[in-house]
Amino acid sequence: MTILCVNVDHIATIRQARGGDEPDPVFAAAIAESAGARGIVCHIRGDRRHIQERDLEILRRTIKTHMNIEMAATEEMLGIARSIKPDEVTLVPERPEEVTTEGGLDAAGHLDELREHTAKLLDAGIKVSLFIDPDETQIEAATKIGARMIEINTDAYSIARGEREIHAALADIGRCAALASESGLRVAAGHGLNYRNVSMISAMPEIEELNIGHNIIARAAFVGLEMAVRDMADLIESAC
Ligand code: PXP
Repeated sequence: MTILCVNVDHIATIRQARGGDEPDPVFAAAIAESAGARGIVCHIRGDRRHIQERDLEILRRTIKTHMNIEMAATEEMLGIARSIKPDEVTLVPERPEEVTTEGGLDAAGHLDELREHTAKLLDAGIKVSLFIDPDETQIEAATKIGARMIEINTDAYSIARGEREIHAALADIGRCAALASESGLRVAAGHGLNYRNVSMISAMPEIEELNIGHNIIARAAFVGLEMAVRDMADLIESAC
């Protein structure tokens, strides 16, 4: 059984575009949970471009399922994790100019520092997942680092075009999910998943959790737009 965890950063991105307080990712998380999400994911970035500390503090008190904060492995973020105490932290790479997370962590290239960082999070009672590309070397590194879970980056699959490319990307994910599971790691996946490409991933038996944000929020804009316009038109007409 694969569960859906909803990433609410994209609601915060819309809020930050106006610098006001709407739409609120806290409200989005409550709706997502009531609609069946089994976890809420939010990414706090060094530049605070979407999720703010205030969001994390309220979300910690209001999330009823499972709170997973994506963050870079920095001292600043360690402090935030220790103070918020989410159920889980997913360590991700972060480049200030990137539009969204561009690739997985180079766990193999930063073994010692990630092992130390992971140990500090585990000491604080926080589970640790590593966001990594579907690459055997990175999975071996994740076990050495002491993470209990990995999130396989599905970006290459989501942008693959044509049967051959898609098949190859799926094969990479399937092989790495099986290896991770045999190595005792729990397996999540995410990035770029949408209503057309999700089934092939959720069908993989080792993958127990999918973290999805952008496409759900994109669809919400369209499935909700008609009612939003009607509500405003009715309000205007009723006042005439
Ligand atoms: N997993 C990680 C580690 C991410 O950085 C993101 C994007 O914030 C997601 C999952 C969700 O990706 P998307 O918004 O493309 O569904």
